[in-house]
Amino acid sequence: MTQHPNNIPAHGGHLINRIATPAERQEFMEKAESLPRIQLDKRALSDLEMIAIGGFSPLNGFMEADDYESVVIDMRLKNGLPWSIPVTLSVSEELADSIKEGSWVRLDSPSGEFAGVLELTQKFRYNKAHEATNVYRTDELKHPGVKVLYDAGPVNLAGPVWLLERHPHPLFPKYQIDPAESRKLFLEKGWNTVVGFQTRNPIHRAHEYIQKCALETVDGLFLHPLVGATKSDDIPADVRMRCYEIMLEKYFPQDRVMMAINPSAMRYAGPREAIFHALVRKNYGCTHFIVGRDHAGVGDYYGTYDAQYIFDEFEPGELGIIPMKFEHAFYCTRTKGMATSKTSPSTKEERIHLSGTKVREMLRRGELPPPEFSRPEVAAELANAMKASQTN
Ligand code: ADX
Repeated sequence: MTQHPNNIPAHGGHLINRIATPAERQEFMEKAESLPRIQLDKRALSDLEMIAIGGFSPLNGFMEADDYESVVIDMRLKNGLPWSIPVTLSVSEELADSIKEGSWVRLDSPSGEFAGVLELTQKFRYNKAHEATNVYRTDELKHPGVKVLYDAGPVNLAGPVWLLERHPHPLFPKYQIDPAESRKLFLEKGWNTVVGFQTRNPIHRAHEYIQKCALETVDGLFLHPLVGATKSDDIPADVRMRCYEIMLEKYFPQDRVMMAINPSAMRYAGPREAIFHALVRKNYGCTHFIVGRDHAGVGDYYGTYDAQYIFDEFEPGELGIIPMKFEHAFYCTRTKGMATSKTSPSTKEERIHLSGTKVREMLRRGELPPPEFSRPEVAAELANAMKASQTN
């Protein structure tokens, strides 16, 4: 029996909403001046946002020690619910010492604006090497997620949060579709099954291929590019979004695709992050989630299909969203189309695929990625963006 998206419960049973009501906002504004203050970095601000809009349901705040430990070791919250990535607010020892448990804390954005409030229920120290080896499967500082962890303060501040106000996204207001709204839109469109697609790269033909293969068997495709913090050499979100707009206009059936931004930060935690990404898309109302090659991976820290195997560590149905797993896709010069080793008998020499790093190198040299890798309109957009960034 197909499940209707509207009947797909958010992770943990109901969609969390931690956006302050007008009365709460008024109360917080009155208190604001007298509260201790923490300035959030970009990632912590996006975590606050994701908690508030329900994208991280069932979390209603930054994790306390028992949830944190259980997530790091067992990929579960202390109540047993699957959850694979710690969501914590790490601060310096001095800052932690200056705030008492039980107090209210004002959370400011990186630019110093009043963004939200934390009810500090607990402060706890944590072991970075333990978190790194369990969550990232490495403690090498070359790993960008591990680097962020080691750069963070040694004490986690935990407790429920409120976002003061939901502002339109400064760059992509049209694509700011929060979980409550995406669920409503899926229902209005009559989509019984919806596949979510996570991405942090410009769309290439292998992406398009697996998106369309998935779309052959479900009602709708929810394109959900991540626009939160990424590592410095990833292509900026505005360029990626323009590439998607170009593609949607020409190459996709408009009535079967919806695009929205995912405000979260990348962790580059490979397999652990694939579970996390799937649960977040479940909260947006997706029934299915695409997991391709080296999902959310970086360098060669993870095996090509580790992010698929990790789904087998959960009981069938336990996650409440179905992974759609795809093999490494490439352009096949023998069959003259996109394929994987499941569908093409080609030899290695007959397969065209490029890594993101190779493509960036080509663009830097002023070369366009070939049409077998990238649609020409996307290649042109990437080349323009590279030129603009080099002249700035
Ligand atoms: S990710 O860090 O967000 O995973 P990216 O945007 O490149 O990076 O990938 C988005 C999704 O497409 C992921 O599920 C990834 O596994 C998948 N993917 C990317 N390239 C390929 C490919 N050549 N073949 C199959 N799947 C791919």
